[in-house]
Amino acid sequence: MKIKIALIAVLALAAGWLQADSLPDESLGLSKTSVYEDPVPPEFAYSDLPPKKSGVLPRFWEEAPPQIPHKVDKLIPITVKLNKCLECHDTPDDIGDKVKGEPTPMPESHYVKEGKDMTMSSRRHFCTLCHVPQAGVTNLVGNTFKGD
Ligand code: HEC
Ligand code: HEC
Repeated sequence: MKIKIALIAVLALAAGWLQADSLPDESLGLSKTSVYEDPVPPEFAYSDLPPKKSGVLPRFWEEAPPQIPHKVDKLIPITVKLNKCLECHDTPDDIGDKVKGEPTPMPESHYVKEGKDMTMSSRRHFCTLCHVPQAGVTNLVGNTFKGD
C-alpha cells in the first residue's frame, strides 16, 4: 500500500512538472501562429512577362537549375504527350550560345548522344521538376543564405 501511494505521489509530481514545462501553441515550430489556427497565406502572382521581355533571373550557384523568368500559364501542365517548353528551348545546335531575349538552349546535360544525333534525355522531360517560376513574396521565415 505504501509503495502504491508513493508511486501515485511520484506520478502526480511528474505530471505537474510536465504541465509546467509545456510549450504555448505559438511556440511550436517556426510558424508564428497557434497550431490550431489556419492562417490564409497572402495573395501573390507569378510573372506575367512574356519570354522575350522577361530577361533571366540570378542563379544561386553554378550548377543550380535556373529559375523560369517568364510566364508559364499557357505552358503547363507538361504531360507525357505535350511539352510546350521544347518548342523554344530544344535547340541542340545552339548549345552554349546564349542570346538576350532568345530562349536559352537546354544544356548538353539534358541530352543523350547517339552517334551524331542529340536526343533529349527522357529524365529531363518534366522541366518543372527542377525549373520553377518565381513570385515576389515576403519570406515567412528569414534566411541568410547567399548564392555564389
Ligand atoms: C515562346 C518561347 C518559350 C517557351 C514556350 C518557353 N520559354 Fe523559357 N525562355 C524563353 C526565352 C526567350 C527566355 C530567355 C529570356 C532572355 O534571356 O532574355 C527563356 C528563359 C527560360 C529560363 C531561364 C534560362 C536562363 O538562362 O537562366 C528557363 C529555366 C526557362 N525559360 C524554362 C522554360 C520552361 C520550363 C518552359 C515550359 C514550361 C519554357 N521555358 C517555355 C522562351 C520560351
Ligand atoms: C532533373 C532536373 C532537371 C530537369 C527535369 C530539367 N532541367 Fe534544365 N537544368 C537543370 C540543371 C541542374 C541545370 C544547370 C546545370 C546544367 O547546365 O546542367 C539546367 C539548365 C537548364 C537551362 C540553362 C542552360 C544554360 O546554358 O544556361 C535551360 C534553358 C534548361 N535547363 C531548360 C530545361 C527545359 C526546357 C527542361 C524540360 C524539357 C529542363 N530544363 C528539364 C536541371 C533540370
